Amino acid sequence: MIITVSINNLDAFANSFWSLVKDAKLFAFHGEMGVGKTTLITILCKKKEVKETISSPTYSIINEYSFYENNNERKIYHLDLYRLNGTEEIIQAGVEDCIYSGDICFIEWPEKMPEFLIENTVHVFIKIMDTTHRQVKIEMPIPS
Ligand SMILES: Nc1ncnc2c1ncn2[C@@H]1O[C@H](COP(=O)(O)OP(=O)(O)OP(=O)(O)O)[C@@H](O)[C@H]1O
Ligand SMILES: [Mg+2]
Repeated sequence: MIITVSINNLDAFANSFWSLVKDAKLFAFHGEMGVGKTTLITILCKKKEVKETISSPTYSIINEYSFYENNNERKIYHLDLYRLNGTEEIIQAGVEDCIYSGDICFIEWPEKMPEFLIENTVHVFIKIMDTTHRQVKIEMPIPS
């Protein structure tokens, strides 16, 4: 599915996104620097009403948020792999724990960990259209 996302209507994007992906857990956000990965992930986390302030994990590498779903506390992991290089650094940072946790996991710069991207990943490709619009392509995994 390809949609046009306006910075002035991120809410509509979040609603369409969550109804499309349903209970998928692993999301890889592709796109050049400054294209809007963090911005889109932020609105998606806000829709889940996470307790914490959402920020870019550029320096922390992994941010952890929490929200309530049917009275159960759930986690969201938000990863930014930009600063990591090579399998060893990916492992050291604890990336595997996140992607195999069964919790929602948003990954910026997934190109850094091709060997870890399991087949049930939802891939999101973002491109700049103009200063306030992005083209967002959402690729669902093939059902097994
Ligand atoms: N429709 C849109 N969707 C998302 N971001 C938009 C849109 N229109 C404009 N923007 C702007 O584009 C910028 C995107 O920055 P953001 O930090 O989200 O990018 P990023 O892809 O996470 O970058 P990085 O690779 O450095 O992590 C923000 O300043 C945001 O306001
Ligand atoms: Mg970012």
